[in-house]
Amino acid sequence: MSTDDISGSEPILRATGLVKTFGRVVGLDGVGFELYPGEVLAVIGDNGAGKSTLIKCLTGAEVPDEGEIRLEGRRVHFKRPQDARAHGIETVYQTLAVSPALDVAANLFLGRELRKPGPLGTVLRVVDRQRMRQRAKEELTKLGISTLQDVTVPVENLSGGQRQAVAVARAAAFGSKVVVLDEPTAALGVRESGQVLDMIAGLRDRGVPVILISHDMPQVFEVADRIHIQRLGKRAATITPRTHSMTDAVAIMTGAAQDGAH
Ligand SMILES: Nc1ncnc2c1ncn2[C@@H]1O[C@H](COP(=O)(O)OP(=O)(O)OP(=O)(O)O)[C@@H](O)[C@H]1O
Ligand SMILES: [Mg+2]
Repeated sequence: MSTDDISGSEPILRATGLVKTFGRVVGLDGVGFELYPGEVLAVIGDNGAGKSTLIKCLTGAEVPDEGEIRLEGRRVHFKRPQDARAHGIETVYQTLAVSPALDVAANLFLGRELRKPGPLGTVLRVVDRQRMRQRAKEELTKLGISTLQDVTVPVENLSGGQRQAVAVARAAAFGSKVVVLDEPTAALGVRESGQVLDMIAGLRDRGVPVILISHDMPQVFEVADRIHIQRLGKRAATITPRTHSMTDAVAIMTGAAQDGAH
């Protein structure tokens, strides 16, 4: 565990000994994980290596069978994604959770709708569509997303890439402590991928750490400060783009090389 004191600071999010099984399939087999303040941490690994399961356990979408999770040093027990969101952890899951029939603005504020001022909002719970649209436009502009300027379009009319952008924008806008992105650019074109990468860098600049799951090695090596490598349900190593090459990373991922430095 030589990277534990990498930045001289405590991890904002730490997991130890995470185990998650699905019947006889072992998704996670005693995984440790650390995310430090202000860093972009990539999680890589072959299909089925346990990346999504790890992220789901960290963000309340799955409850681990064993192990513990600490946020800013305090033990947490997330039972559902809303629990993690309430702690400032926003996640874009690999299987997107957008509501196709709702428009862009409503999707951005899904689950935290703005209400009309006064009794209309507090008593009757009437949502303030106009204020959400205004705020949505501001957020998208701030995030540099130019392909989505009409926030009144239902998300079902958007392209796959634009839908992804809505989900990523929502996470970026509301993730106050940690933003988690599971394969955010897999469905995106070159331009949109570039925007997501810029957004990730922007979050880091604002001091918000990002967990990025990606199969795209050049992208990982461009944006990540550290790289957690999953292999067969375990953490094989944690490396950095400074100390390891893409070839090294792939070798660890596939088991062709061992790297004890985690
Ligand atoms: N809900 C589930 N029920 C049964 N098995 C599951 C479930 N979720 C994950 N698994 C299994 O756990 C293992 C890890 O899956 P996981 O989705 O975490 O992999 P991954 O690293 O995200 O892969 P990919 O790169 O394909 O997204 C796999 O063998 C998978 O089949
Ligand atoms: Mg996955």
